[in-house]
Amino acid sequence: MPIQVAIDGPVASGKSTVARRLADRLGFVFLDTGALYRAVAYLALERGVAPTDAHGVESLLAAHAPEVVTDVADPLTYRIRIDGKLLGQQLFALPVSQAVSPIAAMPGVRRRLVQAQRGFAAGRDVVMAGRDIGTVVLPDAGFKFYLTASIDARTERRLRELIALGVSIDRDELRAEILARDERDTTRAVSPLAKAPDAVEIDTSSMTVDEVVDRIVRQVRMSSAR
Ligand code: DC
Repeated sequence: MPIQVAIDGPVASGKSTVARRLADRLGFVFLDTGALYRAVAYLALERGVAPTDAHGVESLLAAHAPEVVTDVADPLTYRIRIDGKLLGQQLFALPVSQAVSPIAAMPGVRRRLVQAQRGFAAGRDVVMAGRDIGTVVLPDAGFKFYLTASIDARTERRLRELIALGVSIDRDELRAEILARDERDTTRAVSPLAKAPDAVEIDTSSMTVDEVVDRIVRQVRMSSAR
């Protein structure tokens, strides 16, 4: 039986960084599912479809399905392909981040992308990061973790990431933006961000990435060896 590890959590809880490093340690494939939602937002912006136009966005997605393409030589590296075009860093540009939330709340979008995520996971050992992996995408995953961190810790982390990317933003503005995204992600009608009842919660506020990864690796190895 393939081993599935689901990592969920709010914005800047450390889930993507942890999930990637974890997949590396375990030798599993990895997918940060936010990239698929971002790819749809990118497509909508490129085609001039408003990110609030559910009908328009869902039709666009029906005609241009995003695919996850893994580099065979390096299972940690993947790109999202739409219409033969490979998308990478463009998915993290600010306009895409701003357009993605309403798109991720559209039921038709979620249905298709959940299917794509399950297809990616099928039959192999996988670490998948997102908001609804343990609750909706892989409800039978053998390992589920829900990462949290204080709003201050999350603001500092995101600030450092943005500075490294050369983006300057006011700390208070960023904090407010993270809180607004949390609010939208946790209160949307379809698949809101939530801890699965059987997920282990880890508060990463004062932990390093390696400490979190070590903790999860121990648990996966211990249970898999039984
Ligand atoms: O993790 P991220 O910032 O790249 O996610 C981008 C958006 O997609 C964010 O608004 C939440 C949404 N998302 C989601 O609804 N479900 C997922 N499994 C992953 C991301």
